[in-house]
Amino acid sequence: MGYKEQIQKDRIPRHIAIIMDGNGRWAKRQGLARMFGHRQGVETVHCITEAAAELGVEYLTLYAFSTENWNRPKEEVDALMTLLVDTIAKETPTLMKNNIRLQTIGDISRLPQATHDKFVACIEQTSSNTGLRLVIALSYSARWEIIYATQQIADAVKKGNMLVEDINEETISSYLTTAQIPDPDLLIRTSGELRISNFLLWQLAYAELYFTDCLWPEFTNEDFYHAIVDYQ
Ligand code: IPE
Ligand code: IPE
Ligand code: MG
Repeated sequence: MGYKEQIQKDRIPRHIAIIMDGNGRWAKRQGLARMFGHRQGVETVHCITEAAAELGVEYLTLYAFSTENWNRPKEEVDALMTLLVDTIAKETPTLMKNNIRLQTIGDISRLPQATHDKFVACIEQTSSNTGLRLVIALSYSARWEIIYATQQIADAVKKGNMLVEDINEETISSYLTTAQIPDPDLLIRTSGELRISNFLLWQLAYAELYFTDCLWPEFTNEDFYHAIVDYQ
């Protein structure tokens, strides 16, 4: 019996977050440039997103580009930004077909104009879709997010709109970029690295963690179902 058949339909994790890692190593393994890995990784995103939508997962958050990833060689960053534009152009019909609503978290003001505008347009176009919420973490890091939230909260206190003693868990959560999103139930990281890499530090407080040696470009729907069965 495959893993899909073992999934209990009434216990699907509401929110799954994924650190999609290992694109470069996958490419290197076959003597190819890193970008081949990123391109193949997009295929995995396509398949896993459709699988999540079909299962009835409510939120799927994908770590696509971290604040730290800006420090990669310029050629790789530029190529990734172009790949993101091409991917959105190609995948928007898939999002519409599957009733998926796109959202981003992260400092998207740092993105090149073309990449930024493509995302904003796709977010707008899919805004009435009521199925899976696909959250792409772009130019995101949890420390960036916490610093930004702290500045906003301090500003509210300074202006007299908030009392220091009223700051609680709900306050912090509501100032994070994930304010309208429930905390992840399950975090998956591919590529065998056993770390969080500055992803959703506050929100993952109680998430189940699932690590696999599988590299992201070779991560299949069956691997995804396996992670859900393991969670259940
Ligand atoms: C993850 O794959 C994708 C991004 C961070 C953009 P990597 O590019 O980190 O691939 P590895 O970890 O070097 O194999
Ligand atoms: C984490 O992968 C970030 C993304 C998947 C976008 P990295 O490859 O950038 O993280 P480290 O360097 O292994 O911590
Ligand atoms: Mg990596």
